[in-house]
Amino acid sequence: MRIAMIGTGYVGLVSGVCFSDFGHEVVCVDRDPSKIDALTAGRVPIFEPGLEDLMRRNVEAGRLSFSGDLAAAVAGAEAVFIAVGTPTRRGDGHADLTYVMGAAAEIAAALTGHTVVVVKSTVPVGTNRQVAEAIRTARPDADFDIASNPEFLREGAAIDDFMRPDRVVVGVESDRAAEVMAEVYRPLFLREFPIVTTSLESAEMIKYAANAFLATKITFINEIAALCEATGADVKSVAKGMGLDNRIGRTFLHAGPGFGGSCFPKDTRALARIGQEHGTPMRITETVIEVNEAMKRRMIEKLRELLDGSFNGRTIAVLGVTFKPNTDDMREAPSLTIVPALVGGGARVRVTDPQGRREGEALLPGVTWAEDAYAAADGADAVVILTEWNEFRALDLKRITRSGPRVLADLRNIYDAETAAEAGFAAYAGVGR
Ligand code: UGA
Repeated sequence: MRIAMIGTGYVGLVSGVCFSDFGHEVVCVDRDPSKIDALTAGRVPIFEPGLEDLMRRNVEAGRLSFSGDLAAAVAGAEAVFIAVGTPTRRGDGHADLTYVMGAAAEIAAALTGHTVVVVKSTVPVGTNRQVAEAIRTARPDADFDIASNPEFLREGAAIDDFMRPDRVVVGVESDRAAEVMAEVYRPLFLREFPIVTTSLESAEMIKYAANAFLATKITFINEIAALCEATGADVKSVAKGMGLDNRIGRTFLHAGPGFGGSCFPKDTRALARIGQEHGTPMRITETVIEVNEAMKRRMIEKLRELLDGSFNGRTIAVLGVTFKPNTDDMREAPSLTIVPALVGGGARVRVTDPQGRREGEALLPGVTWAEDAYAAADGADAVVILTEWNEFRALDLKRITRSGPRVLADLRNIYDAETAAEAGFAAYAGVGR
């Protein structure tokens, strides 16, 4: 099957590469010529484990190519995916649909033969219908169907999530569209991964509901963590005891400095906005947004307390600034709230991150970048773990205390008080213990 993927951002690129690996003939389209040039030269603009290799293999096999020519890619395709960005619109929390509608207009002009136009971007309920109408109005003669196909990829594990999904969600209105989508996902279908076929509106809603639910789960355990600190319970044991109940489940119960990233913050805001627009306030989601902000600020107070009430004149090593490990993504990372508070409070901040420097340098002014955790910690007063990269999970803590630091703030609960004390730290703080 011939597929055109419009947009080579995170979702578009991963999906395009994986579809080509399924055996489809895929053209990934972007209007940014520098991106197309880089991709054509075999360079992946994001850090995602395994992506570059998979891309190279499929380009070599002749199934995958990159182009700036949307019209040509659409004209030759049986399925056209829209995977452009839907950032939060300035001011009102609504998802900005400018790029989606822009892509729809360009696609409309280029349609030939029967085509399924598939919206992969995360869009508010009702958008797929709007896209279909826009195409129909522009090209009453066009032979097309619309499908909604939200993605559930996690950054850092995107290829595995694509190849071995918990489920694939497909919203369609016609049997023809359902057949084409079944063909697109045939390899997964054959391996009996669940494919949920539903209406356009339900597919759109599943995406927001799933992300808001996961964000709620994290925020719930973060709030329980605060209460654990006040009562003497240990949130790790609490999460384990809760999570073994199958109805609750163990994942997404890791207390931390608050969720970040390109999806949860944006999608919770968008869901809250959709609720308001329909006169059905999403009160739980609205509270989750508020509590998550408060959790990030709570971390600043925790650190201040650990440093006897002031950051002024202290040297602090921060390990990890990306919103989670295995990505270079800094979007809405807790570090963007926490690090400026340290700098603003008069601390000398030394930062290290295996992938975050390229993006982080501009976003975190006033810090010094260090090569690794040991260089960051050398001569510092305190070490703060903000992102649980693997290389921070097995640090030689004695080597760190020998070089100066006496305080360990472990905002991902990788270590524990006993281990920290044995290594020579005078003070240790995790989250919720
Ligand atoms: C999330 C969802 O997990 C994907 O299913 C979804 O497709 C994606 O958003 C999207 O909508 O595109 P992602 O943002 O890549 O994926 O990252 P997650 O692994 O979900 O982590 C999100 C945030 O929650 C991170 O800041 C992470 O540190 C935090 N988190 C996660 C916790 O604090 N505790 C947990 O137990 C889990």
